[in-house]
Amino acid sequence: MCGVLVAIGLAGCGGSSGNPLADRGKQVYLSQCIACHAVDPAQSGAVGPAVKGASRELLDGKVLRGAYPPGYKPKRPTQVMAPQPQLANDIPALAEYLK
Ligand code: HEC
Repeated sequence: MCGVLVAIGLAGCGGSSGNPLADRGKQVYLSQCIACHAVDPAQSGAVGPAVKGASRELLDGKVLRGAYPPGYKPKRPTQVMAPQPQLANDIPALAEYLK
C-alpha cells in the first residue's frame, strides 16, 4: 500500500492520513506557517495563536488578504501576520488539514 502511494507520488509512508488534500495542506502548513504557528495547529505557536479548526472563509481572509470574515472575533488584536496571496490555490488544502 505504501509503495503504491509513493509510486504515484501522493505521499510518503508514515505521515499520510489517507486524505491527499489534507496531506497537501499539511505540507503547506509545515513550510509556510510554523515559523509563527505551532507544528501542532491545536497549540499556540511562538508568535501566532492556535489555528486548528480555522474555516475556509477565515483562511481565505487572513492568509490571502490579512482580513477577517465579517463578524469574526480574532484571537489576537494584532496585525503581525503578513498576507500570503500566493497561497490562493492552497487554501482548500489548508482548510482540509486544519478542520
Ligand atoms: C510571521 C508570522 C506568521 C506566519 C508566517 C503565519 N502566521 Fe498566522 N498569525 C500570526 C499572528 C501573530 C496571528 C495573530 C493575528 C496577527 O497579529 O496577525 C496570526 C493569525 C492567524 C489566523 C487567525 C486566527 C484567529 O482565529 O484569530 C489564522 C487562521 C492564521 N494565522 C493562519 C495562518 C496560516 C494558515 C499560515 C501559513 C499559510 C500562517 N498563519 C502564517 C503569525 C503568522
